[in-house]
Amino acid sequence: MSYPYQIKSADEYKAAYKKSVDNPEEFWAEIAENFLWRKKWDKVLEWNFKEPKIEWFKNAKLNITENCIDRHLKEHGDEPAIIWEPNNPEERTRTVTYKRLHKRVCQFAQVLKNNGVKKGDRVCIYMGMVPELAYAVLGCARIGAIHSVIFGGFSAQSIADRLEDAKAEYIVTCDGAYRGGKDIPLKSIIDDALIGNKTVKKVIVYTRTRTAVSMLKGRDIWWEDEMDFAETQLEKNGSIDFPAEEMDAEDPLFILYTSGSTGKPKGVVHTIAGYMVWTTYTFVNVFQYQPGQVYFCTADIGWITGHSYIVYGPLCAGATSMMFEGVPTWPDAGRFWDITDKYKVNILYTAPTAIRSLMSYGTAPLQNKDLSSLKVLGTVGEPINEEAWHWYDENIGKKKCPIVDTWWQTETAGILISNLAGVTPAKPTFATLPLPGVQPALMDEKGNELEGNNVSGNLCIKFPWPGILRTTYGDHERCKQTYFSSYENYYFTGDGCLRDAEGNYRITGRVDDVLNVSGHRIGTAEVENAINMHAGVVESAVVGFPHDIKGQGIYAYVIFNGKHGDEEQRRQDILQTVSRIIGPIAKPDKIQFVNGLPKTRSGKIMRRILRKIAEGEMQNLGDTTTLLDPGVVEEIKSGKL
Ligand code: PRX
Repeated sequence: MSYPYQIKSADEYKAAYKKSVDNPEEFWAEIAENFLWRKKWDKVLEWNFKEPKIEWFKNAKLNITENCIDRHLKEHGDEPAIIWEPNNPEERTRTVTYKRLHKRVCQFAQVLKNNGVKKGDRVCIYMGMVPELAYAVLGCARIGAIHSVIFGGFSAQSIADRLEDAKAEYIVTCDGAYRGGKDIPLKSIIDDALIGNKTVKKVIVYTRTRTAVSMLKGRDIWWEDEMDFAETQLEKNGSIDFPAEEMDAEDPLFILYTSGSTGKPKGVVHTIAGYMVWTTYTFVNVFQYQPGQVYFCTADIGWITGHSYIVYGPLCAGATSMMFEGVPTWPDAGRFWDITDKYKVNILYTAPTAIRSLMSYGTAPLQNKDLSSLKVLGTVGEPINEEAWHWYDENIGKKKCPIVDTWWQTETAGILISNLAGVTPAKPTFATLPLPGVQPALMDEKGNELEGNNVSGNLCIKFPWPGILRTTYGDHERCKQTYFSSYENYYFTGDGCLRDAEGNYRITGRVDDVLNVSGHRIGTAEVENAINMHAGVVESAVVGFPHDIKGQGIYAYVIFNGKHGDEEQRRQDILQTVSRIIGPIAKPDKIQFVNGLPKTRSGKIMRRILRKIAEGEMQNLGDTTTLLDPGVVEEIKSGKL
């Protein structure tokens, strides 16, 4: 593979950026020439942010898996596409070449076909980080089904809601998943999620942990049996190839649920061609990937980072992408460095929360680990603090590896603002400059765009890039309201941001009621809904507070009138409830019982005050005169945890 669109110098970046703004259609048409199309587009871009309606590479036909796999087979078929490192370092690792990946994806597409899956059907995937997860995702894409991957940390209730929203008819899961010392019973959670479900027809179960599972006749089937049968079928046809379905550029590729300001997660929809071009272009440019390099993104495929930068982007670029089943601190805090040493990893892409967590163990876990293969480091998911940035730079990169601080979102498909490794300069805690095609705008409180440098405001984007979300599944109005209504003709990100004297961007965090806990997005309203489900809870209010490792922690103020248990038991009951309703990832770090919440006369909770108290700021709480009962503030202050 060569990448004619790889930017090699700061001047080339400037030229590319300028062209992407002056002549976006020509710019993206040239880049799109580097992909495999069944039929080229009639028009590169048609859009308006009013409806919104955004179409890239209009009327083009393609299949993304031919771009991720087939086109690499002839010259690079024996090169590793995926290297899989199991949770337990004693267990055998697996290297999946492009040829092997092709075979497995074809087999799985055949399995889907055998079970009645058709183009446009929704397939929910709830698996641990095993290569079969990648086969399942790509198998869906090959047959034209829409995948909806759900992270293994979500509860049965969360899965049930997502299944219903997507009207999913098929599920692919595992008996269980290993994560550090834990064995998570995925199939059993799916069984709970399916109580009362009316749409799911088949559940395909891959064996990973040999946990006992109930297999319902007529509904549940084993991955292994199905794959064997599909192999025989394909071989009988004289070829292991499963012909890829011809898809339209704007057909949906997947749904991925993410939290917002309301209680209900929304299904972000990405479509095929724009997503493919955007993830590949950004992968090649931000990380400056060179053919043959080993690239390790530590994310989980349950989140957008795994979709875009473990599976689609790297594979489209013909890269070698690592998949890690475990966690950074098990069996010890040297795990990432063992993996880096063992596979001679060249590019490492992780989250600030992981860096801060590893930092807390000091440098002992780095002893005798050869990290000299590393060339580029990356971070994603939340603002990185100065201390963590320097620790990463000094101890991991040995001050020789550029660090790319990549800002983006589930909705953006791929990286929008970042330096390009070794090409444009890094600046600690700054995502720095927009990628070609990205036109950021900072807005003031009145909704006017702030011109010039040294300004801060709400971050919007004023022109579509190929990876922008197209809709929220089953509810286009919600997409419009959430992203395109705050500022007319702008996409609103929900983030606050500043632009320094040189035009570098620094993301300062969410400006809506969304928390970022360990790089995971969680809506405060969602957590409140879950807490309020507990029989003894009258009302609750959830805010974020600074947390040394997680970035943000969850602080819940709860009015409780139940009779059972002492305070600690009640806390545990509430945690258990949140775990059941959303999943362990949304459990509050602190629960303070209160007699009242600070409300305005119209009944609105004044979160600003609660946020300040949770942050430990007791003095300058701002104007409290509009409160119905200012006395509750004193009580809350005195009970702060
Ligand atoms: O607040 C921003 C933060 O994460 C949010 C997006 O979360 P999610 O859709 O889950 O995607 C995470 C992986 C892309 C953003 O609105 N965020 C993401 N990257 C950064 C960041 N904040 C600061 N710096 C970043 N590099």
